Amino acid sequence: MDKLIIEGGRKLEGTVTISGSKNASLPALAATILANGKSVLSNVPGLADIQTMEALLSHLGAKVEIDGNVAMVDASSIHDLEAPYEIVRKMRASCLVLGPLLARFGRARISLPGGCAIGARPIDMHLHGLEQMGAKVLLEHGYVDAVAPAGGLKGAKIVFDVSTVTGTENLMMAATLAKGTTVLENAAREPEVVELAEALIQMGAKIAGIGTNTIQVEGVSSLRPMEHTVGPDRIESGTFVAAAAITGGDVLIRGIRADHLEAVITQFEKIGCQIDGARPTHGVTDLRVKGPERLLAADIRTAPYPGFPTDMQAQLMACMAVAEGTSHVEETIWENRFMHALELMRMGADIALHGGLAVVKGSAILSGAPVMATDLRASASLVLAGLRAQGTTEVLRIYHLDRGYDKIERKLAALGAQVTRAKQ
Ligand code: EPU
Repeated sequence: MDKLIIEGGRKLEGTVTISGSKNASLPALAATILANGKSVLSNVPGLADIQTMEALLSHLGAKVEIDGNVAMVDASSIHDLEAPYEIVRKMRASCLVLGPLLARFGRARISLPGGCAIGARPIDMHLHGLEQMGAKVLLEHGYVDAVAPAGGLKGAKIVFDVSTVTGTENLMMAATLAKGTTVLENAAREPEVVELAEALIQMGAKIAGIGTNTIQVEGVSSLRPMEHTVGPDRIESGTFVAAAAITGGDVLIRGIRADHLEAVITQFEKIGCQIDGARPTHGVTDLRVKGPERLLAADIRTAPYPGFPTDMQAQLMACMAVAEGTSHVEETIWENRFMHALELMRMGADIALHGGLAVVKGSAILSGAPVMATDLRASASLVLAGLRAQGTTEVLRIYHLDRGYDKIERKLAALGAQVTRAKQ
């Protein structure tokens, strides 16, 4: 297992280029199952979660080759319809193969993902939606066994109780090959859902209402393989905005989708950052972020897109720990996503937790310490705190970080951070 050793106190300066999005790559890789042929995805980030999806697709019988940032998946040889526990337990997003397998092969068996560090994370809405499309869903021995009716899944009207990103993605993929029209109401509007819809349309799917809460999918009889370039990772982008902010640095972030980050950019401007650069309503841009000597406090509340993303909450909290004044950070998506607060407190942060609300009293100084996190974004928050802290911070168990941040220590070192990876 690896750890990161960070000598804090350096202002980050220079240029960083954003990698492809993890949460857009994973559903796109799952969607390759829908076509009988070879799909090609480019700008896929080099992450442990991508390797897990590669292992899963290979287990199903697909031929997968990843060459740098290009992934080739030939789904014509799929012969196994089971996502086993050994793979699903490593990555909950493995459940994204359920919809595509059921749609193309009429059957799928996937291990039920358990709870995880940030919350219970059930997939009941995914399963209920598939049942409404006519599937028989059986839960036994820790597995979901789903069987489509003779003649395949049928279009249905599905209303989500709460907005679910992978739930919307799973059912949208299932609906592409169903008979008739499926309407997904209260669908998630995250940019990753939009990107998946665009990739599916390129494969021949008929989807309307993209980017709105009501998505309509008219089933087609078959799809062609995908050729898709994955868009930039908005959470990696936001994390580098936070890195410039917390160190009082000056960083040019290249290849960012400013339109996907409005809530984050606005928030960092409010707390004293200067953010310059064109902000087109569509397409990538470069933004230059200058952090102040001392950040200001903020009150934030996480919410589904276009609200402030839960996946940036931990990183913002690290910034609040050194801001001037008292901040209130409310987490509304995950019931247990404050693990970083306890570790930040070990570095001298003054944080009080009241259920889903954290009250953060900013202190001018954090002090380096050995810290450990149990989820990806919490680990990122500890790295940010370490960049700002006096002395040495060791962030242990960084395999969480490797799940979601492509070459993080190299990118930080290129900006002048003193950070090294070592065996734990
Ligand atoms: N939920 C249910 N039932 C369901 C599905 C979801 O109760 O069937 C609940 C969840 O427990 C949660 C809420 O609904 O309280 C929202 O969960 P959602 O389904 O939207 O989350 P997800 O699809 O499992 C994706 C991202 C997460 C991100 C969330 C919220 C991927 C692979 N994962 O998860 O990303 O936090 O949406 O935006 O896209 C990360 O990258 O660090 C990460 C955790």
